[in-house]
Amino acid sequence: MLNFNGHPKNILPIKKCGESMITFKKMKIQAPCTTANLGPGFDVFGLALDSMFDIVETEIVTDISGVEISISGVDADKIPTIPEQNTAGVVCLEFLKRMREEVGIRVHINKGVTPGTGLGSSAASAAATAFALNSLSGLNFVKNELVAITAQGELASAGVAHADNVAPSLLGGFTIIKSYDPIEVLNFPPPSDIEFAIAVPSIRYTTKEARAVLPKAVEIPRMVHNIGHAACVVVGMLKNDPELIGEGFSDIIIEKARSHLIEGYAHVRKSALDAGATGITLSGAGPTMIACVNPKTADANEVVKAMKEAFEQHNVPCEAFTGRPTFGSKEI
Ligand code: HSE
Repeated sequence: MLNFNGHPKNILPIKKCGESMITFKKMKIQAPCTTANLGPGFDVFGLALDSMFDIVETEIVTDISGVEISISGVDADKIPTIPEQNTAGVVCLEFLKRMREEVGIRVHINKGVTPGTGLGSSAASAAATAFALNSLSGLNFVKNELVAITAQGELASAGVAHADNVAPSLLGGFTIIKSYDPIEVLNFPPPSDIEFAIAVPSIRYTTKEARAVLPKAVEIPRMVHNIGHAACVVVGMLKNDPELIGEGFSDIIIEKARSHLIEGYAHVRKSALDAGATGITLSGAGPTMIACVNPKTADANEVVKAMKEAFEQHNVPCEAFTGRPTFGSKEI
């Protein structure tokens, strides 16, 4: 078992060149799905969830140069294998640049996280790959550097290197991107005693499209609302308080601009709250909607059912399930 910044057991470095010490071994890493934004924390907040995982095998090899990607699992045929267009591929290219070594990287991605839903699918593949290469290459980047490199992968899918999905998929728990230039991340253990009801409607749009609808400027009263609610989310995460987290899920800037992309949005929202959720928001850029549940006062399965039924009343087929906060990438 390998944890972040740790070293794999049984792998001895056999080659040293420049700054890297390459092991030429394979690693199999599991990386969790994630929910980003958490209401008012656009591009800043992220949380790792135990609902779905990508499993990625990464190998530094000498029989190819460049990057070779193969993909299996959920919607594998919809994900590009051209390295420059694949989030894991971009991460490999970033590592190759830094290794200054005549080697290639072979990656097999087994998708468990459904792409295009707002649950950090592209980030999970990138995180698992970066986690493995950080160790296999011997480069051993520290936390902030590794998150910055991994976020480059998001350029391939979102057009922007947003780090709010890759950070929790790598590090686990609740993460805050304190700064983008340079990247600085705060990370906290997964909060306990909190559940989420997650509804994934069969609506598809890209993160790029969901970012294109955002306002270019924000009025100060809206900013004040969002800062207050963002503070509420942070305190809730640190105090394991599902009421505070749910109350904090109120974003009147980004979510307001995106809600029209989701058929049935207002109805699903109301249904989740009526079923006992403490709050509800879009997961990342959507279309997935995620509701916070206090397991002491409500049944997350009832909230899941209410959200699914509401989407279906708008003729939007929907997959729905529960999730809990979890740890980040790990060797399996
Ligand atoms: N913060 C990003 C956005 C997350 O909302 O565009 C994308 O999943």
